[in-house]
Amino acid sequence: MAEKVILDVDTGSDDAIAIATAFLSPDIDLLAVCTVNGNRSVEITTSNTLRLLEYLGADVPVYRGCHLPMVASLTPGRRKHVPFTGPDNKEEDVHGDYLPLPEPTRKAQPEHAVVWLVDKLKNSKEKITLIFVGPLTNLAMALRIDPDIVKNIKQVIIMGGGYLVNNITAGAEFNFWIDPEAAKIVADCGAPLVIVPLDATHAAYVTMEEAEEFINLGTPGSVISGKLIKQRIAGYNAFQPMAVPNAAPIHDALAVCALIDREVLRSCMTVNMDVSIAHGITDGMSLFDTGGRDRNRKPNAIVAKDADREKFVGMMKEILGRKN
Ligand code: RIB
Ligand code: CA
Repeated sequence: MAEKVILDVDTGSDDAIAIATAFLSPDIDLLAVCTVNGNRSVEITTSNTLRLLEYLGADVPVYRGCHLPMVASLTPGRRKHVPFTGPDNKEEDVHGDYLPLPEPTRKAQPEHAVVWLVDKLKNSKEKITLIFVGPLTNLAMALRIDPDIVKNIKQVIIMGGGYLVNNITAGAEFNFWIDPEAAKIVADCGAPLVIVPLDATHAAYVTMEEAEEFINLGTPGSVISGKLIKQRIAGYNAFQPMAVPNAAPIHDALAVCALIDREVLRSCMTVNMDVSIAHGITDGMSLFDTGGRDRNRKPNAIVAKDADREKFVGMMKEILGRKN
């Protein structure tokens, strides 16, 4: 039986591949995609999500979400250019603004993503799996409106945080850094959490040769994914080259694959995860209490410190190689 899933994205290149993976997987019943400010403004992330779903022929509703983090942009200097307009140096950009796909003819649903999330989770007859691969603003806002929705959350699989790896500051990963308060609200909400941090996503890098193999599969999902992987590799080569040259992580797709087959994650630990909202150099940092030092905080997350790269690439080829 396919798992009912709500996917929340800040589309972006790896989000696009994650959406394609979730839609094309027979193991996932993709109920809806919610969009949020993150890699780009919510206008752009929503347009990109609509473009991709239309390109795939996917009749999946899109709900536009929050256009700013909960509070982080209120403090002068705490957040650079939010909505995020990408890195100052454009060739560092692994996302670009709009996906290389035609403008969408369909629109997002009229309801705001947060309003829809509360209603859907409150009234669902069964628990729903959430996969969040952008800043956690929409879920945190929904939890602030009605904390009881947590009762209908089966699990939240989150691409975010870093155990030993970071990417936006010396201590933080991008999704948590854009909206630290949202990440902390979700960390504390009591829902079962599966964290797919940068340590795992960087272990599951994809090479240029594999990107070409995706393109050669010739299906809509594999072609656009291969092209976006090549774009990502160019961006990584320019500003944070991987240990293996001409390769890039596809962060968000690993979070989707973690639902399809948990064995794709490795070195998992069950610990308490907290998120710093302390502004300054630790702002948005994910903290994993591996020694159980804080007696007041119980383990709240399964955290993967590694991933099975070959398994990941194999899963992606099989899933994206499907017509739909
Ligand atoms: O740090 C990686 C995450 O930030 C990914 O979800 C990527 O899409 C960006 O949102
Ligand atoms: Ca993302």
